[in-house]
This record gives sequence, structure tokens and C-alpha cells, in this order.
Amino acid sequence: MIGVALVLCVSLGTVAGGFLFGYSTPRPLFTVAPDPKEPYNLSCLIPGNHKLPLARFVDRCNSEICDATSTDCDFGLPNTYIAQHLNGKAITVDGRMDEEAWKEVPWSSSFADIRGNSYARPRFDTKVKVVWDNDRLYVGARMEETDIWANFTQDETRVYNDNAFEVFVDPDGSMANYKEMEINALRTSWDLMMTKAYMDGGDFLSNWTSDMQKGVYTDGIVNDPNHKGTFWSVEWSFRFQRLADSTRRIRPTPADNEVWFAMFARPEWPVHVVNGQYHKNPDAQAEWWAWQPTGVVSLHLPSRWGLVQFSKNLSSEFSFPKWHIYRALFDVFETLHAFKAVNGMFVTDVKQLRLKPYLLSGVCTDIPTVTLHNDEFSVTVRSRRLVGVVGHIRTDRYVWFD
Ligand SMILES: *[C@@H]1O[C@H](CO)[C@@H](O)[C@H](O)[C@H]1NC(C)=O
Ligand SMILES: *[C@@H]1O[C@H](CO)[C@@H](O)[C@H](O)[C@H]1NC(C)=O
Ligand SMILES: *[C@@H]1O[C@H](CO)[C@@H](O)[C@H](O)[C@H]1NC(C)=O
Ligand SMILES: *[C@@H]1O[C@H](CO)[C@@H](O)[C@H](O)[C@H]1NC(C)=O
Repeated sequence: MIGVALVLCVSLGTVAGGFLFGYSTPRPLFTVAPDPKEPYNLSCLIPGNHKLPLARFVDRCNSEICDATSTDCDFGLPNTYIAQHLNGKAITVDGRMDEEAWKEVPWSSSFADIRGNSYARPRFDTKVKVVWDNDRLYVGARMEETDIWANFTQDETRVYNDNAFEVFVDPDGSMANYKEMEINALRTSWDLMMTKAYMDGGDFLSNWTSDMQKGVYTDGIVNDPNHKGTFWSVEWSFRFQRLADSTRRIRPTPADNEVWFAMFARPEWPVHVVNGQYHKNPDAQAEWWAWQPTGVVSLHLPSRWGLVQFSKNLSSEFSFPKWHIYRALFDVFETLHAFKAVNGMFVTDVKQLRLKPYLLSGVCTDIPTVTLHNDEFSVTVRSRRLVGVVGHIRTDRYVWFD
């Protein structure tokens, strides 16, 4: 089915633009305008990705984001959290989250269905807290749960096949070499580095280590349906020095007010009990509950994560001056991907793309420009304050020139 859809998408492009594979010199520009009434065939798939339906990718335009004249350039801000510095306070990583340092800081918003807020609210609540010191990032999670079970006991295995808690961070805002950590109720964990998102051709490196400290507390007995509970909680810390591996950071520890793209999530597998043991329901898929819905059942979309700001100032308010440029870059990328999926090629004339109107108004950023380099493209968005250059999308990263 997937193969058929891809072939159809590619052949559409072939017919429309005389498209040929294998160019090595700069690709000629194509002048196929999308039909304004039916801009994209939503059944097509993003090239190189075998999971994401295109419909979810392009269907994110709401009136606020699309208002060309709006001067609110924080449009589309995802969930945010201000992580307070510990300022000398200690945390014992035992899973209980009972230290003063935790009590003083607020919970995140509750997790939602990863597909979006229009889906039913998860039947169990999940919230996190984040704090930090100069050496480590600390995450605490509280997960409502009645049936507390786990099967994986070997670290560095695919723990997400159990009910688990997951943390993702992108320490340099590049969407590359981001880190992923997972843990189950038996304290079994996996930490890995993603070179890039899967849809950009990335892969995971399991030999990376977060140098973690981990603690799990369970209300109820793990794997015992006769002693159910009401929740389990995780205390978890990672060294900034390790989180910064393979990134462009100069100092591993965040500066005051620095913002990182981050994600917290939990897979919840439907189970039943036979002879006093939990079993997965046959063929059932996990539900995915996430701090920031990505719009699809995938966590590997760092451009759709939430934002964590590191603060040393208890009274500070969230602020991220680069956000509107990231927003513009993400919107152009997604539109280019969608165009390529249907028409089999990229275009550089932004007027041929069905861009959100604000992108062409020049209100929040300068109008984006698209450049083709052989079979890859880059997008540039400038503003009065910042320049964001995105190199070849499949081989390069976001680089900021302040
Ligand atoms: C859209 O693509 C799907 C799968 O590739 C195909 O079945 C369908 O006919 C296409 N729709 C249009 C309007 O071209
Ligand atoms: C991890 O594996 C990758 C790919 O095999 C290799 O390039 C890298 O050097 C390894 N890193 C460490 C820390 O061993
Ligand atoms: C856990 O592992 C046991 C032994 O392999 C299996 O019978 C059981 O179905 C597993 N439970 C779940 C919930 O996956
Ligand atoms: C703390 O943040 C508040 C609000 O953003 C600001 O007015 C104040 O100057 C900050 N204090 C310090 C010491 O940075």
C-alpha cells in the first residue's frame, strides 16, 4: 500500500514536470504551479518516511498562523516550561520526587494524545517537572497508572515496548544529534543519540550514554495484578556534558534563559490479565501520550516538540526571541516536503508553494528564500535580529548567526 502510494506520487511529478532522477549539475527550475483548489494529494506520503501521512503534515494551518497581517510573531508557540536552577538544593534520585526542590517548582501541563488535542484526553494523567544544576538536567515524572507492569530487564534494549517514560532533548536547536532516553517501571533504561530524525534519513547510535542517574517509585507492586496501584513516578538525571555530545555547543551547561527543544512522552500498551500475569492485547498498538502533541504518532519530529527554558530567576517568564524564525523555517520545510511529495520535485519560487500567508507578508520575518543544491534544498529566513540558515535539509543542520 505504501509502495503504491509512493509510486503514484512520484509518477505524478514525472508527468507534471518532466522530472528525471540523477541530476548532478544544478537542477533546472520547474514551473508547475499547484492547482490552488487541490494543492496536495493528501494520500501521498512524505518521501523517505514510511509512517507519516502527509495530511497530518500540511493540515496545521489555523487562522491565527495564517493571518498575514498579525504582528504577533510568537504564533504557534508550543507548550513551554521554565526549568529552575537548583541553586545548591539536592535531589536524591530514588523516584519519589519528595524533595523540597521539586515541591517548589510547578508541574508541566498534562500530557495529551500525541496526535493532537482534538483526540480524547488520555485516561491516565501524566505531568513532569524539570530542574537543573551546573552538571545535570533532572526530570521528574508522575504517571497515573493502575496496572503497573514491565518486562524488559536489560538496559540498552527497546524499552518502549513496555509501558515507559521517555525524554528527548535537542541541546543546540539543530534538530540533529538529539538525545532520547526511555525507562520502565523496573528501572530498565535505554539512552541513544539520533543523528537526525528518521524522516531526514537519520539513525540512532545506541553506544551514546547519558551518564544517567535513575530512580523509579511505584505505588502498587510491579507485575502483580493483585496489588494494583494508582501511579508510578520517575526521577532521572543526565549529565549536560553528555547531552552536549556531537552538538555545536561550546559550554555543555545551558546559559541562564537558554531555550531547548524538548519532549516528554509515554507509550501505554493495552493489557489484560491471565493467571495473575499481565499480557499485551494481541495486535493492539500502544497509545502515545505526549507533553506536546506532534500531530502524528511519531516523536521523531524535533521541530514539533515543546520548549524548555533554563532559568536562574524564579520570577522569569518564558521568552524565546528566535521562535518566529524557527516557526517560519519549519513552515517552509513542511510546505516544500508536501510539494515534493505530490509533484516529485522542489521549487525555489516561494510563490509556487502554498505557504502560509504570514510568510509572504514580511511582518514577522523577511520573506523566505529557497535555494536548490543538486538534489537538496536550503531555506533562508532573515529578520532584523537574527539570521537562520538551513543548509541542505538531508545532510545539514540549523545554524544560527546571532
Ligand atoms: C491521491 O493519491 C492516492 C494514493 O496515491 C490515490 O489513490 C488517489 O487516487 C489520489 N487522488 C487524487 C485526487 O489524485
Ligand atoms: C558509536 O558508534 C558510531 C557508529 O558505529 C561510531 O562512529 C562512534 O565512534 C561510536 N561512539 C562511541 C563513543 O563509541
Ligand atoms: C511479559 O513477558 C512474559 C514472558 O515472556 C509474557 O508471557 C507476557 O505476555 C509479557 N507481558 C506483557 C504485558 O508484555
Ligand atoms: C527576573 O525576572 C524578572 C521578570 O522577567 C525581571 O524583571 C528581573 O529583573 C529578573 N531578575 C534578575 C536578577 O535577573
